[in-house]
Amino acid sequence: MKESLEALERSAFSAIEEATTPKDLEGLRIKFLGRQGTIASILKEIATLPPEERPLVGQKANILKERIKSQIDERLKSLGSPLGAKAHREDTTLPGTCGATGRLHPLTQVIQEVCDVFLSLGFRVVEGPEIETEYYNFDALNIPKSHPSRDTFDTFYLDTTHLLRSQTSTVQIRVMEKEKPPLRIVAPGRVFRPDAVDASHSFMFHQVEGLCVDCDVRFSDLKGTLSLFSKQFFGPKTRTRFRPHFFPFTEPSAEVDISCILCDGKGCRLCKQKGWIEVLGAGMVHPNVFRAVKVDPSRYRGFAFGMGVERLAMLKYGVDDIRLFFENDLRFLRQF
Ligand code: PHE
Repeated sequence: MKESLEALERSAFSAIEEATTPKDLEGLRIKFLGRQGTIASILKEIATLPPEERPLVGQKANILKERIKSQIDERLKSLGSPLGAKAHREDTTLPGTCGATGRLHPLTQVIQEVCDVFLSLGFRVVEGPEIETEYYNFDALNIPKSHPSRDTFDTFYLDTTHLLRSQTSTVQIRVMEKEKPPLRIVAPGRVFRPDAVDASHSFMFHQVEGLCVDCDVRFSDLKGTLSLFSKQFFGPKTRTRFRPHFFPFTEPSAEVDISCILCDGKGCRLCKQKGWIEVLGAGMVHPNVFRAVKVDPSRYRGFAFGMGVERLAMLKYGVDDIRLFFENDLRFLRQF
């Protein structure tokens, strides 16, 4: 009897071990532990044994019954059965796991930061279309038909009337067509130019355009506004410098430099020993631009500016290759 119990244990355990589905295990449970099962018939046989043997065999059979039962439960659990899982309790004191949080692209962060400065000065954020016509990209901006920027080498033409805007100055026109001064807007967005891609050029980049129109807007307002912006964006020590320049849509026009954020004007590799870094273009709105949108140039004056977002971001964060912004490499993006 004792031997047959041991043999039963071995064969039961190996059968349980080999079972691969909860259904298999249920079959084994019936076979070994069911009312017509092996253990049941052993217990029945006890009656036929000599009385002195009965208690020991009965005890052993009952122990075996329990062991087969727990073996089946164990196996069920390891098969991931919900039945087996009953025995397993969640530890509610463990710290929770949470999904990774996303973040804004560094260029989006810079655009928001730039816009925030101008929002604090009473500017509004507007957007314009990326697909434009020659009228908005050139004509209305006082850019003559002969201007080189109209060349197919400098502008992406989609068909005879449409192009990808090469500057956000288009939004100046779109806003002034619809709304009467006083106006104070900033317009962030993408612009496109067929430049060969390298560390500092991309066929697509971002600009933030600014426009302020009112009865008494002066060049000194432009200077004050942009100096304040530079201090807010690059730090309180930043100085600005306005150099005479030419844009068809502003007169007078200027290129605006900031004191080098690395060497503070002493001269270094970043500013090419000049102490200054060019960051944007600006000027007073040209009377012809006002005429194009039917604003009276004898009554209104305005200033406008346009800055490159990638350039601002590269300077602020010390990024040395514009392509990094567009490659979607998380090792780069996670630093912001
Ligand atoms: N649109 C000009 C550029 O892309 C920048 C600019 C905007 C200059 C507004 C003056 C006024 O270079």
